[in-house]
Amino acid sequence: MCGIIGYVGTDEVVPVILDGLGRLEYRGYDSAGMAVLGADSIRILRAEGKLRNLEQRAYHEPMHGTTGIGHTRWATHGAPTEANAHPQVDASGDIAVVHNGILENYAGLRRELLQDGVELASDTDTELIAQLLGRESGPLGERVLRVMPLLVGQYAVVAVCRSEPDTVVAFRQGPPLVVGIGEGENTVASDVTALLHRTRKVLYLENGEFAVVRADGVELRDAAGAPVEREVETLDWDAGRVEKGGYRHFMLKEIFEQPDAIRNTVRAYLDADRSGVNLDGLGFSTEQLGKLRRIHLVACGTSWHSCLVAKFILERLTGLPTEVDYASEYRYRDPLLGDDLLLIGVTQSGETADTLAAMELAVRGGALLATVCNVRGSSSWRLATSRMLTQAGPEIGVASTKAFTTQLVALVALALALRASRGLADELDRKLITDLQRLPMAVEEVLRTDRAFYRLGTDILSEATDTLYLGRGILYPIALEGALKLKEISYIHAEGYPAGEMKHGPIALVTDGFPVVAVATATATRDKLLGNLMEVKARGATVLAVAESDADDVAEVAELVLPVPAVHPLLQPVVAVVPLQLLAYNVAVELGHDVDQPRNLAKSVTVE
Ligand code: M6R
Repeated sequence: MCGIIGYVGTDEVVPVILDGLGRLEYRGYDSAGMAVLGADSIRILRAEGKLRNLEQRAYHEPMHGTTGIGHTRWATHGAPTEANAHPQVDASGDIAVVHNGILENYAGLRRELLQDGVELASDTDTELIAQLLGRESGPLGERVLRVMPLLVGQYAVVAVCRSEPDTVVAFRQGPPLVVGIGEGENTVASDVTALLHRTRKVLYLENGEFAVVRADGVELRDAAGAPVEREVETLDWDAGRVEKGGYRHFMLKEIFEQPDAIRNTVRAYLDADRSGVNLDGLGFSTEQLGKLRRIHLVACGTSWHSCLVAKFILERLTGLPTEVDYASEYRYRDPLLGDDLLLIGVTQSGETADTLAAMELAVRGGALLATVCNVRGSSSWRLATSRMLTQAGPEIGVASTKAFTTQLVALVALALALRASRGLADELDRKLITDLQRLPMAVEEVLRTDRAFYRLGTDILSEATDTLYLGRGILYPIALEGALKLKEISYIHAEGYPAGEMKHGPIALVTDGFPVVAVATATATRDKLLGNLMEVKARGATVLAVAESDADDVAEVAELVLPVPAVHPLLQPVVAVVPLQLLAYNVAVELGHDVDQPRNLAKSVTVE
């Protein structure tokens, strides 16, 4: 969702910006633009649609300079037109800004500026920031200091000023900003993937801070203008992990990276002798664990599905009542908080606005706060007192795959650790720990499945307009996830449903040839699920199922079985989701869709 890049150094800035924006494309956007500083000028180029349109314009209208800013915009205020694309400039043309987020006092600021006689050229809230900075005088850093208190809402802003051609100023409240520290150059970005190929040394801005960035240094200041000392961090991701590495799409690469991602995540939480789970890094005190009576899990989208799976695992292994909420609902529902509660914010990016707000609410209510997150140093990482890092590595495809399966693994490890802390560990723990270590091999086996299995499934689904995904128990969230994968990248309507609930409504949809995808691996309720499949089959449905290859009873009902190896029921979600990821991927490719950047979607949703 919107991407920001800023650069000040010695390289020609246009290729630097275009390259940085290319690396941010995965976040989702509908227009792009850049500003380049000359000796006494700011030149702006903007274009609707994909980045190639901006590249074309940059080719035909060359600009030169070594300082500049760029942006990919996902429209909020105002249509995705060239006029509303960023950078936005003030009336004098002296200031240019790019912005991620939403200003909540947009209407009031707009009215005030119009009353002051300012002529506005766009429908954006971003232009208001440029106009407010233009109304001030003095160095850009000082103007920022005076303008920040006027802004209400969420913003990550990077600004340049015509009279300071060697400076970029960055400030934030909400969406993230990071400064990449280089040799004789510095880069600002909304996301480390845009600067990893230039440097791995980074400085994160905290809320309310601003950074004055020049080629030879970075001054970090707080909202009162006082200098802030912060240690430069070194990232452990390397640039190669954000390349496609020979795969046609990031999504496919990330599906195939799952065995390694799972292996690394399991290893991160196993004791040295691999006999137990080690969560020392989580930093729960004995007193906190002693008070713990309840767990709340909050998340959005795919991460919410991993919470639904985790509820089964946490309740089964720890005996602690566990609730799961959409973060966007939790933050407004007045939940019952307290110091007997562990709230876990699950988020791949660590930047999802609703998840962060729900986590902040829980901290204010005295809850113990943990996050399961894939990005070290992200906002949820810094907000939580206890953190579990999933070792998926950068996930670029908008459709989440390896982040999901590693979240599941991390949450199993967390459940085992809490179980041990409650003195409940027994033979089951040893079995699960052994099976966790075998999981990467099980996923590898799924990935080796003959592609012919997917051909038939792809043909059936790519001709459908509607589908139903069914599962029961711990596999019901996998039905939801399978349906989400299909709809977000193939644009085919797919609904996930608990199979037992199906005849209370959705069965009315089933007619001849209606595709039903069942998650039918061996759990205690598989027979019940088979009964439900007979019901849809009796009404003409074409059934596709994920099941163990020797599950003859499933094969009798289903037109096609996507085979998975047998694993412990609590770990089945990790294995069962993989064929559904591949199925969705193949259908989207078959239909010719942009798999990595589906329409209207953003990788990280940094606004409410
Ligand atoms: O970064 P997060 O895990 O907080 O993102 C939450 C959702 O936006 C995300 O899981 C989304 O549903 C997936 N990209 C869909 O595949």
